[in-house]
Amino acid sequence: MAKKDQTILVVDDEETFRYMLSTLISGAGYTVETASDGIAAINAIQTNLYDVVLCDVRMPKVDGIEVLKFIKTNYPRTEVVMLTGTADVRIAVECMKTGAYDHILKPTTSDDLLTTIERALEHQQLIRNNAVMKTELERLQGNGDIIGESTALRRVLDVAAKVAPTESTVLIQGPSGTGKELIANYIYQRSERYGLPFVTVNCASIPDTLIEAELFGYEKGAFTDAQKMKPGIVEIADKGTLFLDEIGDISPIVQPKILRFIQSGEFRRVGGNQILKADCRILSATNKNLKEEVKEGRFREDLLYRLNVITIELPSLQQRRDDIPLLVNSFLTTRMKTRVPKSISDKAIEVLLSYDWPGNIRELENVIERAAILCQNNIIEPRDLSLPNSPMTLPSTNGRDSKVGTTIPLKEIERMHIEAVLQSLRGNKTETAKILGISLKTLYTKIQQYQLRWN
Ligand SMILES: Nc1ncnc2c1ncn2[C@@H]1O[C@H](COP(=O)(O)OP(=O)(O)OP(=O)(O)O)[C@@H](O)[C@H]1O
Ligand SMILES: [Mg+2]
Repeated sequence: MAKKDQTILVVDDEETFRYMLSTLISGAGYTVETASDGIAAINAIQTNLYDVVLCDVRMPKVDGIEVLKFIKTNYPRTEVVMLTGTADVRIAVECMKTGAYDHILKPTTSDDLLTTIERALEHQQLIRNNAVMKTELERLQGNGDIIGESTALRRVLDVAAKVAPTESTVLIQGPSGTGKELIANYIYQRSERYGLPFVTVNCASIPDTLIEAELFGYEKGAFTDAQKMKPGIVEIADKGTLFLDEIGDISPIVQPKILRFIQSGEFRRVGGNQILKADCRILSATNKNLKEEVKEGRFREDLLYRLNVITIELPSLQQRRDDIPLLVNSFLTTRMKTRVPKSISDKAIEVLLSYDWPGNIRELENVIERAAILCQNNIIEPRDLSLPNSPMTLPSTNGRDSKVGTTIPLKEIERMHIEAVLQSLRGNKTETAKILGISLKTLYTKIQQYQLRWN
């Protein structure tokens, strides 16, 4: 991150010292602001998110330790470096206990000071990186590459690559399972903000009553359960990218607040009076037609216009059938967790090409995953593809006894199916439950009930 994007607050009641520090720090390229006492510092901290605060310990009215406490309870991600006039061990210990990153004895050499600031910034980055690490890992494991060579997909990738390095707000629209989240990642990875936080909020999965508190945080005491201040997701995503997934499902109550945040970067924590600022690039996605939602009065028109500065429409799988063989191949070679490599017959590909894929790529992926487990001789045949409008086929059936599917009781089909999946995954129950779409608890019940066995 460029130094000028990192903001440092210098708090000291001695004017000459304040001036000296701020000249030194701005000379090194950082953005600097100053406060002449504890009260001014607390006011400044509430209106701006600082990366590092340099704070004198001894000040009249509100002293440095109090400022430090205030920062650490309300803005834990801001690093604080305390400046002490005397080499008093007790003060040093108190500073560190209260959560200061470091303390420096005054007067200080410029080298000392700048090195400490640099380290504090590195420390902050590390903590941030940890916060985004989990989602980052999930992202890298699961998908990564966007597969497909159809014109429809190429057009999408073209626009995405062009808009990625800009600061533009992007709305990604398309039916379920078409890769909207994948495209959001694609844009992030090619953006100037790559490496800075990428935070996803699934607006559909957070209840209406909680979404505002999640996005913008809350102050202690804002509601019954709010025993501690909690920073908002926008603060965590500060300087990075905020991905509002399923934005079409966002509550009308929160819509004006998101609008304001997009327009000005300003927000207020729930239960708080101070206006705070954060700088996030906004990407959003939905499978709803937002113009329709506007007409129906469920979505604010002004918000739609802010979100869709650039709109990317993802094609359905039906509109990019040519990509089916490539996708299948990639699922079989890179994503499957089966023991032996599996392949697919031309006949089976034909079946896939003639199906209409209402669940798009996600459905294709699931169908292939299941077929790879059920198939014999490691080759997927049409009978292994349980598509809704083709008759259900069983792991052990072959052409000769095709009527088997109609004469076996449903329970038996279930038993055989679960056993086949377990067998194929060498008894890995977590994976099996995932593939079967049931909970681990249900799987254990079934294993018990049917006395299932596998090698
Ligand atoms: N072009 C592609 N190449 C490879 N895999 C893809 C592609 N598009 C989508 N997928 C895979 O399909 C699945 C669904 O994709 P994703 O979650 O991005 O869809 P979505 O549009 O966000 O769906 P929903 O509307 O249901 O949230 C994921 O496993 C993703 O990796
Ligand atoms: Mg999605």
